[in-house]
Amino acid sequence: MADDSASLPAQLAATTLKDAVSSSEVPKAEFSDRVPIRSIVSRPDGGAGFAGNRVRIGGWVKTGRKADKDAFAFLELNDGSCPANLQVIVDASVADLSPLVPTGTCVVVDGVLKLPPAGTKQKVELRGEKVVHVGPVDPAKYPLPKTKLTLEFLRDVVHLRPRTNTISAVARIRNALAYATHTFFYKHGFLYVHTPIVTTSDCEGAGEMFQVTTLISEADKLEKELIKNPPPSAADIEAAQLIVKEKGDIVAQLKSAKAGKGEINASVAELKKAKEHLAKVEERSKLKPGIPQKDGKIDYTQDFFARQAFLTVSGQLQVESYACCLSSVYTFGPTFRAENSHTSRHLAEFWMVEPEIAFAELKDDMNCAEAYVKFMCQWLLDNCIDDMEFMADKFDKTCINRLRMVASTPFERVSYTGAVALLEEAVKGGKKFENKVEWGIDLASEHERYLTEVKFQKPVIVYNYPKDIKAFYMRLNDDSKTVAAMDVLVPKVGELIGGSQREERLEVIQQRILDMGLPLEPYEWYLDLRRFGTVKHCGFGLGFERMLLFATGIENIRDVIPFPRYPGRADL
Ligand code: 4AD
Ligand code: MG
Repeated sequence: MADDSASLPAQLAATTLKDAVSSSEVPKAEFSDRVPIRSIVSRPDGGAGFAGNRVRIGGWVKTGRKADKDAFAFLELNDGSCPANLQVIVDASVADLSPLVPTGTCVVVDGVLKLPPAGTKQKVELRGEKVVHVGPVDPAKYPLPKTKLTLEFLRDVVHLRPRTNTISAVARIRNALAYATHTFFYKHGFLYVHTPIVTTSDCEGAGEMFQVTTLISEADKLEKELIKNPPPSAADIEAAQLIVKEKGDIVAQLKSAKAGKGEINASVAELKKAKEHLAKVEERSKLKPGIPQKDGKIDYTQDFFARQAFLTVSGQLQVESYACCLSSVYTFGPTFRAENSHTSRHLAEFWMVEPEIAFAELKDDMNCAEAYVKFMCQWLLDNCIDDMEFMADKFDKTCINRLRMVASTPFERVSYTGAVALLEEAVKGGKKFENKVEWGIDLASEHERYLTEVKFQKPVIVYNYPKDIKAFYMRLNDDSKTVAAMDVLVPKVGELIGGSQREERLEVIQQRILDMGLPLEPYEWYLDLRRFGTVKHCGFGLGFERMLLFATGIENIRDVIPFPRYPGRADL
């Protein structure tokens, strides 16, 4: 895609590198006293033009070995700034070599960049003159052995796995896609809105929300407290009542005996104290272990938010309230789903990019989704090609071509009815699906992947789905059977984006909520957007990790998010 700002960082990097090449001075590092390895080895000349420069380098040893009868050590250092390492040579006269060579060791070293002997792979290497810091590793205890590790194994060490080439490349690609996202929406005049993580509205109406409550921890605390300080017994209350009565009698006696003011006041104060004590005893006697109940149900008025609250499944509903005044907005944040899915495409915590556009309909929504996905693909080609080459080499030979294809090919658009007809045709032709194909089904992943990978071999936008399989907020079409929904399906992944035109007609949406068996009350604020100044609008949600799967060719979604959460697992 010819888009000048798409490659802004590339241009900046190119300028810096060009200047650096002409000046042959290593660009000064910012906010750190070492030079990022990227600024040396990512130059077009591989860093050769910097030969002769004195630099400080910091990184972690990928591989280290002693050579020439322990006269010196070769260290492959990586600092995460790029996939490439810098080879560092340390002489035995400079430092004790043994602690430097284990994989995982952190080393900061001052030295001079030199051209390596002819015929070696690297274009420049560092001759160490002083080892400034060593963060040692005991290889016997280091959880990442030097052998090739599976991604599955690495899920058991999520805190150390970013030290591997794969997970660090994923982290850089992920970062690039996030930056691309903000750049795309900024360029197109969208405002970034932060929608809440804790919510009281179920956007998808699917009841897959994690509950947020302090009732359980409060009940635990109370239970422990009551064991330590048992609640007052009936006898304790009686005793406290008796004291109140006695103190009351004394006040009455003193008053009738016309005692002095000072004496009466003192006895009234005593009575007040006794009453306060009784109130406290009575209050404590009401404390019961367990979750507070009212009318046989959990009493959420005693919960932290004084009502039931959840982690959001989508920021859509809230972002709509900003779209219905700021016109073009988006939210980009974590979302949570308590679905018990053990697939390679589902997480319990994932990130979603959700634009919302006012004065727009389904066609505009599809155009925006297509432009955004294309923009991200081109961005990776322009800014992340070294990491993409690593992915192509290690995981998916086709991933770079796939980015090129998606960036340059118009997406196919087919109605749901048309898609089902194509699937039925395929079945007639002998194609076997596990899930039955007929009008009204929710397309299964195998159907989606057939359409995008086999039938069209490019991204496909399926639109106008049956209303019964879609959420209440989608706009009802004139046929009363379908809604103005659209899903973007891509090779490797299936559904990447789900979106729709929103139902802007008050009566229609009220009826849809009721038809779906949902209560109106929690959505009253949402209905206000239709009551007051309603407008045609639409939006979509892109699963950020699904985009990473698509881009990198990695098979499991648990490996493209830094800290995966899925049924049975939430490490760290
Ligand atoms: O299709 P979904 O459920 O749509 C919504 O949540 C809408 N409220 C979005 C909107 O219109 N603003 O989810 C959107 C996308 C899916 O297409 C998929 O890519 C991703 O989110 N997704 C998941 N990704 C990882 N793990 C899960 N459990 C996911 N569920 C959905
Ligand atoms: Mg969906």
